[in-house]
Amino acid sequence: MVATDEQSKRITERARSVEHSAIRDMFERAAEYEDRDLVHLEIGEPDFDTPTHVVEDAMAAAEAGGTHYTSSAGMPELREAIADRTGADGQFDPETQITVTTGGMEALYLTLQAIAGPGDEVVVPTPGWPNYFTQIRLAGAEPVEVALPAEDGFDLEPDRVAEQIGEDTAAVVLSSPCNPTGRVFSQDAVTEVVEAAAAHDCYVVADEVYDRITYGDHPTGIATYTEYDDVITINSVSKTYAMTGWRIGWLAGPADVADATAKVHGYTSACAPSVSQHAAVAALTGPQEPAERMAEAFAERRNYVVDRLAEIPEIAAPTPEGAIYAFLDVEALSGTSVEIARRLLDEYGVVTAPGEGFGDAGSGYLRISFANSRDRIELGFDRIEAMIEDELRV
Ligand SMILES: Cc1ncc(COP(=O)(O)O)c(C=O)c1O
Repeated sequence: MVATDEQSKRITERARSVEHSAIRDMFERAAEYEDRDLVHLEIGEPDFDTPTHVVEDAMAAAEAGGTHYTSSAGMPELREAIADRTGADGQFDPETQITVTTGGMEALYLTLQAIAGPGDEVVVPTPGWPNYFTQIRLAGAEPVEVALPAEDGFDLEPDRVAEQIGEDTAAVVLSSPCNPTGRVFSQDAVTEVVEAAAAHDCYVVADEVYDRITYGDHPTGIATYTEYDDVITINSVSKTYAMTGWRIGWLAGPADVADATAKVHGYTSACAPSVSQHAAVAALTGPQEPAERMAEAFAERRNYVVDRLAEIPEIAAPTPEGAIYAFLDVEALSGTSVEIARRLLDEYGVVTAPGEGFGDAGSGYLRISFANSRDRIELGFDRIEAMIEDELRV
């Protein structure tokens, strides 16, 4: 139901400023085609089930009474498991430097609530995940987009980012491996950006939810290799362990930030769901083979995507180095990327995420995800090629 203008006036400016994303628009459009065999290449979550041992441990914990509120910072054993996984040995004190949250999304939300407010700017290299822009605005701050160079496959361009860091900058957000481009920002470039942030005494928010899904030797762990104390690392069990619905994430960073976020968390949701926290302990401390097998499956699909793209000269894309996405340059086709994505859906039955949703730099691109079986990805590419054939090769 859509509210009338009269009803909407009672809703705050803050809530009204939240716009539905271009990706959601595609979800809704796709939902109207109930009877069609659509190929879903828009999905941003692993298509695998949570590893069995994780589910079993969570059930056992629930049966044993692990169903109560926990500390708002998270269960101590989970914070320890997170500290072991994050940063160099002993870099993060589980008691004071980690807050367990309801997914990485809430880690980002709480972080921004703690470090950015009215009058502040937060620098976001783009194309970037749409939640950054909305969450920065919800904190009362202003996002400052820095378009990364398409000709370099959207690698981090330190000078362009540094130029935008000034006295009003509260933080720089780095998404690496990057959603939507699949780039893992190079260590030198990240180090330069972190140095520029340090020179202005501002935070670096390192969103590393895809850090265990990389293809080849691409360094992740920004807080560890830069050794800057004001890096706040955001991560979760969602992507690595196919646990999106369990909603467990965390932030690791300076003690005052961890404390502020835990405090706000205590008033908004008391704590992350306790059964899910048990599940996250099992995921982080139990056998890692299921997660490794999923990462291998993503690597096979990614190689397939790279091979298929090589056969379509009309579409270019940076070679994905991590995450589960390829970002296709479809500028050869006519119209905006929203129009192209709609045509691809309406006429060829493939659902993708239009690049505009990821900031101005994403215009002319479509994001596709590997979170589908090899057969479906193959069918999706057959259909994309049919569109190219019809529209560009006649
Ligand atoms: C770049 C990025 N960061 C953070 C998240 C948050 O994921 P979750 O809240 O499931 O941990 C996502 C989810 O799609 C993402 O793509």
